[in-house]
Amino acid sequence: MSLETDYIIIGSGIAGLRAAIEIAASGARVTVLTKDRTSESNTEYAQGGVAVALSEDDEVALHEDDTIAAGAGLCDAEAVRVLVEDGKKYITELIEWGTEFDREEGHLMFTQEAAHSRRRILHSHGDSTGKEIVRALIARAGAIRNISFLAHAATESLLIDGSGACAGVRYLDPLVRATRDITARAVVLASGGAGALFLHTTNPNVATGDGMAMAYAAGAELADMEFVQFHPTALMLENAPRFLLSEAMRGEGGILRNADGEAFMRRYHTAAELAPRDIVSRSIVREVERTAGKVYLDMTMHSRQFLERRFPKIYETCRHFQLDLAREPIPVSPAAHYIMGGVRTDLHGRTTVPRLYAAGEVACTGVHGANRLASNSLLEGLVFGARAGRAVLDDAESYKPSKDTRYAAPDDDTTTNHIHHTSGASGSTQHGEIALAVLKRVRRLMWERVGITRTRSGLQRALNEFEQIGHARLRTVSRNFLSVATLVARAALWREESRGGHFRDDFPHQDDEHWQVHSIQQRDAQIASSAMINFEAESPVSVQR
Ligand code: SIN
Repeated sequence: MSLETDYIIIGSGIAGLRAAIEIAASGARVTVLTKDRTSESNTEYAQGGVAVALSEDDEVALHEDDTIAAGAGLCDAEAVRVLVEDGKKYITELIEWGTEFDREEGHLMFTQEAAHSRRRILHSHGDSTGKEIVRALIARAGAIRNISFLAHAATESLLIDGSGACAGVRYLDPLVRATRDITARAVVLASGGAGALFLHTTNPNVATGDGMAMAYAAGAELADMEFVQFHPTALMLENAPRFLLSEAMRGEGGILRNADGEAFMRRYHTAAELAPRDIVSRSIVREVERTAGKVYLDMTMHSRQFLERRFPKIYETCRHFQLDLAREPIPVSPAAHYIMGGVRTDLHGRTTVPRLYAAGEVACTGVHGANRLASNSLLEGLVFGARAGRAVLDDAESYKPSKDTRYAAPDDDTTTNHIHHTSGASGSTQHGEIALAVLKRVRRLMWERVGITRTRSGLQRALNEFEQIGHARLRTVSRNFLSVATLVARAALWREESRGGHFRDDFPHQDDEHWQVHSIQQRDAQIASSAMINFEAESPVSVQR
């Protein structure tokens, strides 16, 4: 059965909801597809907050400088300027729409996070910032009659018309366990990141990178897929999820201690606990290896009253696991958190495939370079979600319907011979759609060989195994998962240096002379390099490596 709408948004996090609201203002019909509940997205779990230069002692130029410094030489300066400047406008609008950020005597409260030169992180209900933003955006979008939501609809692939433009999506309807097509004038990917590719992640199970895989299969360019950020402090307990312990905890004075009780971070970096995330993550791993013990986050310098008020969700979660934040240091370990790479876009969310747009973590706009500054991701989703929505409307006039629609499947896809599906280890429907054996093997390989520390031999081995796995007859969702894993590993093998979220033990230094470039991957082509992400502004020749 085939359905029809004006515009499709894939994903209901901050970027998708903001894009939907922007487009719906034109009166067009907008359909938001989401593969779980409407509220389930990476945004929902964002704790620390959203960075914005709104405090009295702050300036957009300082926010811009901090973002560029964190990006380790690969930020797109123009994209960063858009982010920090438009950020003020869109956050102010979000407040007008009813988002409640924490206040003291009526004034917005700003917290500190690593590598920010000012206290500029807004937060809600202490440590539930994303949840509050999603609440406010769903309330707004839900009140707009021409936005409809299709929950539990896992998108498998994009539909491409005879002119090569995106014309809709194919998704899996879990109720009837059959695929359906929806056609539209344009599609906005806002499907989030790919943390669930890794065995240990702070991300929910829905973060399987499908948007990246579908765009790649449809011929779009993907950029900077090697850059993955590992959050240093996830709760580290056997048989418990790697629950995020917000960076704001270190911003509020939290100290990392090794098994001997030593506050070790100053041995690794002058900024100690507030050093860039990649440095803190690797330092934790080294201390674990050196002491053969765990690393802990110590918040006991604060009163119970402060911790309960400032970090209510974290406090309660620790208590659930019989840990008392006010009395004892909490065991922590790094976990995959955010992917800086994604579907290459211009400054308006346009991808290299006509009528396909991308915003938020699925996209690579160049704002994060090789390492994202803490709490810039919600801001990016908001700003570039709105901009992508606007671009969809601006481009509407050039729309010409075309009939011969084909379905852009990943390589060697077969839709008739599925290997058996069952619930994932987590029991989630999303993981259930990915064959359990593929899921388990890929996640372990990604963690062990494509994780915090990489080497040529480890990456090569992971790629060889991915190829072997790919020889099995897999259905599209499993193949999408494998495709994103391969894109990350391939780019990580290609980049023979260390920079930001990519660390190669065999090339441990940053090499600006040869590698201050972005990796660009496109179906049926070798990896290429480009001086910039924004292809609209790019010089015509990109260097093949
Ligand atoms: C956190 O609360 O530590 C996460 C913030 C972020 O990843 O930007």
